[in-house]
Amino acid sequence: MKTKSIFLSLVCLLILFINSCNLFKENPVKAKNGMVVSASEIASNVGVEILKKGGNAIDAAVATGFALAVTYPQAGNIGGGGFMVIHLANGKSTTIDYREKAPLKAFRDMYLDSAGNYIPKLSQTGVTSIGVPGSVAGMIYALEKYGTISLKEVIQPSIDLAIDGWKLNKWNKEHFEYYKDEFKKYSSSFKTFTNNGRLYEEGDIFKQPELASTLELIKEYGNDGFYKGIIADLMIKQINKYGGYITQEDLDKYKPVERKPIIGSYRGYKIVSMPPPSSGGIALLEMLNTLENYSFDKNDWGGSDYVHKLVEAMKYTYADRTEYLGDPDFFSVPKDKLISKKYAKTIFEKITDRATPSNKITHGKFTNFKESKETTHYSVYDKFGNAVSVTTTLNSSFGSRIVVEGAGFLLNNEMDDFSSKPGEPNIYGLLGSEANSIQPEKRMLSSMTPTIVLKDEKPYLVIGSPGGSQIITAVLQGILNVTDFKMNIKQAIDAPRFHNQWLPDKIFYEKDTFSKSIKNELVSLGYSFEEEKLDKRKIGMLAAILINNKNIFGAFDKRGPGKAVGY
Ligand code: DON
Repeated sequence: MKTKSIFLSLVCLLILFINSCNLFKENPVKAKNGMVVSASEIASNVGVEILKKGGNAIDAAVATGFALAVTYPQAGNIGGGGFMVIHLANGKSTTIDYREKAPLKAFRDMYLDSAGNYIPKLSQTGVTSIGVPGSVAGMIYALEKYGTISLKEVIQPSIDLAIDGWKLNKWNKEHFEYYKDEFKKYSSSFKTFTNNGRLYEEGDIFKQPELASTLELIKEYGNDGFYKGIIADLMIKQINKYGGYITQEDLDKYKPVERKPIIGSYRGYKIVSMPPPSSGGIALLEMLNTLENYSFDKNDWGGSDYVHKLVEAMKYTYADRTEYLGDPDFFSVPKDKLISKKYAKTIFEKITDRATPSNKITHGKFTNFKESKETTHYSVYDKFGNAVSVTTTLNSSFGSRIVVEGAGFLLNNEMDDFSSKPGEPNIYGLLGSEANSIQPEKRMLSSMTPTIVLKDEKPYLVIGSPGGSQIITAVLQGILNVTDFKMNIKQAIDAPRFHNQWLPDKIFYEKDTFSKSIKNELVSLGYSFEEEKLDKRKIGMLAAILINNKNIFGAFDKRGPGKAVGY
């Protein structure tokens, strides 16, 4: 009897120990001076080293951005584009738009056949899907205007990583393997992502000498090292070889744009986010403004009523996204209306206690949702009080899958983010209207939502995510988990998520998000669910920093391979 009870006590102790280990795992990384959170531990370290040397958050963000192009090639990039939201310690907020642009030779119906049918593969893959890259120009602009150290210093660690190589992790290995057949289509891509034709293994050292040479030229000549000379020639040669559209004139004309952030408030917090050509900031605020009309109790989280309110706010917002959002340089976006509290009140008033069928919100075609691919978000905070939130992308994993021969970097397939034909969904099942139709030099609409939440005018939360159309709802839930449900930042970003994008009229959700009874309650309210690929479904992958009482807490989503590194 006695031995049995000792045994039971030991078992209990063991369970307690395991639980406390798990709880421990749930804790964010804590630091006093600065923090970088990215999808690659190596890249986060590169950023933190810059902070330690006295660089500010912008210096560290640019260093991390270049490092991600080396150590997270499926999304980190120099051949794609991105958005950077900055909040400076002096109180100024700004954003830098380095989204790709449609080439000068682009035209509205470029992805339609002679009968007017949309040919998805033209906008989604290969040279025809490539937008004029913006990342290099955008990062250099940020560094020159808001950084404090030289391009040479911020780019050198990435050059070293590309020359000396770095150890592939499981995630890298699996991604290289998954896309091997795509890489086979282009000898330059196959050469880059295989070990002399064989698959790389976890732990192998991955070297990228051609990418290193490209980065050297950027280090030496800045923008001219990329948009002119040898690299530009190689890029254009590669694109022309397969019948693409980009010319030297496109590269000469590319300029990043500094834009005023989208600013709003939610329960006393100030929200600073990305304006068009991202739909992220506007959509995030439209949902937050709508939800502010409710008050949530701690116990509401995850219940059917909570899910119902969020999903309805998502539905109305994504319907507006489809209709009203596009590049503001080409289309007049009714921004002020969409982010006004008054407008949100009209949405709130339309929400009943049952699901509103999407086709009652506005007309649209039902579409199938495709699995999202890769983008990457990183968050930076420095000891001076500057915060930087960056989301950058090639669009799909490895973009167009085309590595520029001799230059070692991947080109994006961002043209698919345009609405190629009104009513036809893109890779994320998103619909669009005239607002996002293709025009030469226009920027394609994005969902990327790099965001900084301020409390008492000081950075409180730096957050963002990949995930295509699901980015905005992932960021929304990450924020709500902190502001309304007081979760620590690790729990807030790891918690299960769901998503609705108006069309299709279904709730997407991660495995284990809903219990059977919650699901039944939602069904009785009129909802249906998207069950396909539930086992593998991930809704976003948040990278966040929370600053509280002089402590800096960082966390990377359990859904991905990244790391928060602080000092
Ligand atoms: O800009 C956009 O919204 C998309 N190109 C982002 C793609 C993306 O997030 C894929 N990642 N998971």
